[in-house]
Amino acid sequence: MDERKKAGRYGRIYDQLKELAKKSDDPIARMATVCAVLHHKMDFFFWTGFYLLKESGKLVVGPYQGPVACQELEAHKGVCWAAIDRAEPVVVEDVHSFPGHIGCDSRSQSEICLPVRDYHGEIRAVFDVDSDKPASFSEEDSRQLSQILELIYG
Ligand code: SME
Repeated sequence: MDERKKAGRYGRIYDQLKELAKKSDDPIARMATVCAVLHHKMDFFFWTGFYLLKESGKLVVGPYQGPVACQELEAHKGVCWAAIDRAEPVVVEDVHSFPGHIGCDSRSQSEICLPVRDYHGEIRAVFDVDSDKPASFSEEDSRQLSQILELIYG
C-alpha cells in the first residue's frame, strides 16, 4: 500500500475508533475493538494484537486477531520486549534478522510493536502487528498507530 493511501486509511480508521471508544472505557474492550477494526481494514496485517504487561512482570497475550499466537513471551527477548525495554515503537523490516525474535508463526516476515501507556504514562501493554510480507511497516505506521493507541486509556 502506498504511503498516501495508507495515511488516508489510518485517518478514517482513527475517526471510527474514536467514536467506538465512547461506548466503553474498559481498556480490554477498546483493545479488542482496535484489533478487529485494524485487522479487517489493513490487508497486510497478518496478526494484530496486544500483549499485556502483568504485575507479575509477565507479558501475556490479550485481545488479538489472526493465527494462534504465543500465550506468554520470554522476558527481555524478541520484538515485544524490545518495545517495552526501549519504551518506544520498534519497526522490524525483516524478522529473521532481529536478534531474539520470537516466531509464533513462520509466515511472519516483518513486524511493528508499540508500547501502550495508561493515563499516568506507565506502559501497560504492547500492540504488535505482524505482516506476511517483508518491510511492510514504516515510520508512518508508527506515527498513525501511536495516535490510535492513545484511545485505549484516553
Ligand atoms: N514476534 C514477537 C512475538 C509475538 S508474535 O509476533 C504474535 C516477538 O518477537 O516478541
